[in-house]
Amino acid sequence: MVLQNVIWVITLTGMGLVALGFVYAIAQAGRPAEADEAARAHRSSTALRRGLFLALLLLGIGIAWASLRPFPIPLQHGPLQAAQVVDVVGHQWTWDVSPTQLTAGQPVEFRVTASDVNHGFAIYAPDGRIVTQTQAMPGFTNKLLYTFHTPGTYRIMCLEYCGVAHNGMTAELQVAAAGDQP
Ligand code: CUA
Repeated sequence: MVLQNVIWVITLTGMGLVALGFVYAIAQAGRPAEADEAARAHRSSTALRRGLFLALLLLGIGIAWASLRPFPIPLQHGPLQAAQVVDVVGHQWTWDVSPTQLTAGQPVEFRVTASDVNHGFAIYAPDGRIVTQTQAMPGFTNKLLYTFHTPGTYRIMCLEYCGVAHNGMTAELQVAAAGDQP
């Protein structure tokens, strides 16, 4: 079954259970309460509320932990153990990129910084679509992890207005198929 349908069934079941709870509460509402019974009901509802709150808290922590672990931004401290490393420095109005010859299918770590003002380091695929980007900032090195899957000539463009020649701030990366020597 498609994940969306599974979630839909779970949602409907949950809604059904809540509706049944309401029906039960309404059916019970007409009965006169006795003092003991009321005290017992109060105790058990307090225990239930605490239990549900704890369960909800644990569920929230669990979901946060599970969903944040594969965080898409790589760790910024320490080496990323990528097979290829490219140093990038943005200047008004050129890119220093070294090396520019890369191999497809192996992760590339881009270490991106700037010498003067903020630039936007963006890589465009041969078909013109942007594939990844990060800020190039003076005084910081932002690490970007990317694996090229399609060989070809990729274009680097600046994505942040950085002065009069911002639009001319481009460079190229040559990505060769694994096994081909550029
Ligand atoms: Cu550098 Cu715009």
